[in-house]
Amino acid sequence: MQSTDRTEHDRNNCLPEISTVINGDIFCVRVLVPEDGSDEQIYAMTQRIGRDENRFNNEPYGMTREEFAQWCIKQDAWSRGEMLPAGYVKQWTFWLHVNNVPVGYGRIREKLTEQSKLFGGNIGYAVSNNFRGKGYGNYLFNSLLKFACMLGLETVLSTVEKCNPVSRAVHEKCGGILISENSERWFFSFDEAMKKIKERQNNA
Ligand SMILES: CC(C)(COP(=O)(O)OP(=O)(O)OC[C@H]1O[C@@H](n2cnc3c(N)ncnc32)[C@H](O)[C@@H]1OP(=O)(O)O)[C@@H](O)C(=O)NCCC(=O)NCCS
Repeated sequence: MQSTDRTEHDRNNCLPEISTVINGDIFCVRVLVPEDGSDEQIYAMTQRIGRDENRFNNEPYGMTREEFAQWCIKQDAWSRGEMLPAGYVKQWTFWLHVNNVPVGYGRIREKLTEQSKLFGGNIGYAVSNNFRGKGYGNYLFNSLLKFACMLGLETVLSTVEKCNPVSRAVHEKCGGILISENSERWFFSFDEAMKKIKERQNNA
C-alpha cells in the first residue's frame, strides 16, 4: 500500500466506526485516536487483560496513566507509518465498546514479518477478562477483518496457540481456514473470508 502521508491521515480519519445493535446492546469498534490516552475506562480495560495471554502482546499492561497516554500517541503514529521502530510494520489499534463501555481491543498489522509469520500474524485481539464468553471476541475479530478489507489488506493470516481453543472457535466462526499447524500453534488463513467481506462491502 503506497501513498503519501496526507493520504494516510485521510485513510485513518475516514475509517468509519463499525457498530451494530445486537439483542438491544450497542456494539461499536473504532480506531484508536490520541485522545484515548486520557480515557480512564479504556486504560482500566487494558489492565484487565494479562501482559501476554496466549501470545497477545498487551503492551499497556502495567503502564502508568502517563505512559498509556504516550503509548496511544505512538499507536496513532504507527497507524500512519510514523515513528516505527526498525523492522516494525504499520499497525492500527481498534477498541471494542459495548453500550459505551470498553470491553476489548485488537490490532491489525499491514504486512507479515518473519516473526509474525511464526506467531501473531496480521491480527491480534483480546477481550477484558470480566467480559469474556459473551460473543465479544467474535464481534471484535469479525470487525477487524472488515477493517482489514477497508485498509486494503488482501491476505490475512492469524495464529492461535494450541492452549487456546476459545480463540480457535472464534477463528473458525469468522471464516478462518486452518492451513497448517506445528506443535505449538494453528495457522489460519482469512483470504477467502476477506474476499466475501470485500464483495459485501462493494455491493453495499
Ligand atoms: C480469545 C478471546 C479474545 C475470546 O473472547 P470472548 O469474548 O471470550 O469470545 P466469544 O465469547 O466471542 O467466543 C468464544 C467462543 O469460544 C467457545 N468456547 C468457549 N470455551 C471453549 C472451550 N473450552 N473450548 C472450545 N471452545 C470454547 C465459545 O462457545 C464461543 O464460540 P461460539 O461463538 O461458536 O459459541 C478471549 O478469551 C481473550 O481475550 N483471551 C486472551 C487473549 C487471547 O487469547 N487473544 C487471542 C490470541 S489468538
